Amino acid sequence: MKNLAPETLAAQAGGVIDEETGAIVRPVHMATTFLRDPDNQYRKGYSYGRPDNATVRQVEAVLTQLEGGAASLVSASGMTAATTTFLALERPAHVVAPDVMYWGLRKWLQEDAPGLGIEATFVDAGDPVAIRAALRPGKTKLVWIETPANPLWTITDIAEAASIAHQAGALLAVDSTVQTPVLTQPIALGADVVMHSGTKYLNGHSDVMAGALVFARTDAHFERAVRLRSMLGGILGPFEAALLLRGLRTLHVRVRHQCAGAMTIAQHFARHRRIEAVLYPGLAVHPGHAVAARQMHSGFGGMLSVRVKGGEAAAVATAANVKIWKRATSLGGVESLLEHRASVEGPGSPCPPDLLRLSVGLESPDDLIGDLEQAMAAA
Ligand SMILES: Cc1ncc(COP(=O)(O)O)c(C=O)c1O
Repeated sequence: MKNLAPETLAAQAGGVIDEETGAIVRPVHMATTFLRDPDNQYRKGYSYGRPDNATVRQVEAVLTQLEGGAASLVSASGMTAATTTFLALERPAHVVAPDVMYWGLRKWLQEDAPGLGIEATFVDAGDPVAIRAALRPGKTKLVWIETPANPLWTITDIAEAASIAHQAGALLAVDSTVQTPVLTQPIALGADVVMHSGTKYLNGHSDVMAGALVFARTDAHFERAVRLRSMLGGILGPFEAALLLRGLRTLHVRVRHQCAGAMTIAQHFARHRRIEAVLYPGLAVHPGHAVAARQMHSGFGGMLSVRVKGGEAAAVATAANVKIWKRATSLGGVESLLEHRASVEGPGSPCPPDLLRLSVGLESPDDLIGDLEQAMAAA
């Protein structure tokens, strides 16, 4: 059937039934090797578990549909997916990246990528003029954006960034981990590659490391990414792929609920005597609100940050006092997490020292607000 709603595709994991048994949940394909035909061919399409796996392919098919792409590659972590996007460029490559972004990838771009022929210029990606000014026509191969971007939730206009990148002959890749395909489909806005840390919302239960790339076209960049995954062995394991597929089945209800919870919490603390500022694109005061309202549908995401009055000491003490929020890194799971982000990112990070990053789960927003209130009062 054509034109099924995305939540229908996700809930039914693409609607695939196991042909042998009729099982509505397909068995996990654990085999690492496959029988050759007597004439030396592999007509069933599988030869070995490092290049490909049927359970991985099922997740990829669902993700490709949810993102409206041409093909997907699922990998062992978000970092595998992100670094593959850069390593699959023809080198030497100049790239443009945001100064507010997932710190692990920024560190890789700063410290590891130059030795691999990849030179990054970091810009304020909330400002299209800054993106344009950083481009070196003929040399810039890729513009990387993350929206909303960790941990300030800066918003980049995807359609505008795509048009600017394309005018200079560069690709646009979007780290869409926080918006998920439920809220935004960057390919429809002009992006060439969409990246996810599947560890976060796609799986949603804080029990699988995974990454994904969705490509707008099966072009030369895609083919080099396929080859890298096969040669470097970054494919996701079959058991993790099955768990990721299970997570995807509830993606839409989880993300919509998390967006509603984040909005309630953001509004509660927006004018609060112990809070300096709430950073959430759903609030009208956020500098990216208008763009976010245009390109994010049915919510502004489940991530927000609060800047605690009293500086770093007050923020760290608040984190120490929470009872329901879990003091842990990562995001996008069913349980709410809180983190003093500057402690993670270290020197050189744009993260202010008074900032707590909040990943809103599926608990009652009233319980989460009450817990933060008591934690701040006791700090
Ligand atoms: C926005 C974003 N992108 C990429 C990553 C990296 O993903 P992973 O930890 O799955 O390698 C993370 C992880 O925290 C992230 O938050």
